[in-house]
Amino acid sequence: MRVLLVGSGGREHTLAWKLAQSPLLEKLFCAPGNAGIEKIAECVNIKADDIAALKSWAREQKIDLTVVGPEVSLVMGIADHFREAGLKIFGPGQAGAMLEGSKVWAKRKMKKWGIPTADFTVFDDFDDARRHLARFYGGAVVIKADGLAAGKGVTVASGPEEAEQALYDIMVEKVFGDSGNRVVIENCLNGEEVSVLAITDGKKLAILPSAQDHKAIGEGDKGPNTGGMGAYSPAPIYTDQLAEITLDRVFKPLLKGFQEDYINFSGVIYAGLMVSEDDFNVLEFNVRFGDPETQAIIPRMQSDLLPLLAASAEGELGNLEPRWQNDHAVCVVISSGGYPGEYRTGYPIEGLSEIEKEKDDRIAIFHAGTKSKDGWIVTDGGRVLGVTAWGSNLDVALKKVYGAVEKIRFEGSYYRRDIAHKALKHYR
Ligand code: AMP
Ligand code: GLY
Repeated sequence: MRVLLVGSGGREHTLAWKLAQSPLLEKLFCAPGNAGIEKIAECVNIKADDIAALKSWAREQKIDLTVVGPEVSLVMGIADHFREAGLKIFGPGQAGAMLEGSKVWAKRKMKKWGIPTADFTVFDDFDDARRHLARFYGGAVVIKADGLAAGKGVTVASGPEEAEQALYDIMVEKVFGDSGNRVVIENCLNGEEVSVLAITDGKKLAILPSAQDHKAIGEGDKGPNTGGMGAYSPAPIYTDQLAEITLDRVFKPLLKGFQEDYINFSGVIYAGLMVSEDDFNVLEFNVRFGDPETQAIIPRMQSDLLPLLAASAEGELGNLEPRWQNDHAVCVVISSGGYPGEYRTGYPIEGLSEIEKEKDDRIAIFHAGTKSKDGWIVTDGGRVLGVTAWGSNLDVALKKVYGAVEKIRFEGSYYRRDIAHKALKHYR
């Protein structure tokens, strides 16, 4: 199969790494890719949001399957454009992508389909929204910009002042542009988060092992949210019992809802859950592989990924069931100093070849913001690399991953030292 992968992050490098191992693969292309992906795929200089250019290129190159990484392309309707042109593509069309593209739409559908989620109210007027804050009696409240905001559109405010500031930034200052024309204000939920991803054809599901992301920049989950600073899989809080509850209360109602509302959904459905001893809710849905979760989940996959993605794209998942290693994987993200605020790029990265020379087949380095320059690999984004290691237990994986992370150096590099520490108590 000739496969085109769309995107340029750690998630896409992980998918490229796995697809490159498939005996069914004839040739892998990636648009636009990064310095890690270009070692295993032919990179094409087309941006992930240039749908017209991607479509004509895929047609010319006789691409058999296109796999979409980022939500932006999906929300723009890449899958509809490709399908109309007779091109096979993995990812939902615009209607399904609304589940991630509009928080208002997603919350209303969750309510309609009976999927548990925090109580919410929608506003398109700043003064009305501000007045509504009084109902929270000075307590915590969550403010969400309606549209896409690169993972930064949600503020969990500890009190009314912070909430009002977030409302002002979103609705008046328009820091996320038109994404801030409407907001969702919702109750703050407590508990632990877990990400559960499933590959679906709209009728059947292949549910992937659970993972937990680390969204905050600082250790102990302090500081502003990022795209994700690390992940591990499996997440021990996601017990077999919770998996059953998730299937019955989230995934089954979702598939039923898609049918009722005539939404053809093929691709990944990602449920972000908030779980506590006495409560269970969906925080939100995404319509693509999570990042960095994918970097911790996919290395655990024993079977071939390509037939699964192709079957989902064809709308016929059938009885394909991926097989998984019974092990533990940890991904630690190394970012540029200053991220998620301002940061500088262009710094050479050292230590990568040292790790490669060790030839440990349970360590993988996934590139995110990197590019090649004058024979060097240099930093080119906020999240620069994801280092994943796996082993028979979490301690082994942690030791291995941090051993590798410590060998990687570039000016201003930063990583969290406490990835997966929350899970350790479950094994002791
Ligand atoms: P994102 O997936 O990037 O939109 O980030 C949303 C994040 O905000 C979630 O992963 C939670 O950490 C947090 N969040 C969203 N909704 C709530 C809520 N109702 N209560 C508490 N935290 C929330
Ligand atoms: N890890 C969070 C996300 O992919 O949205």
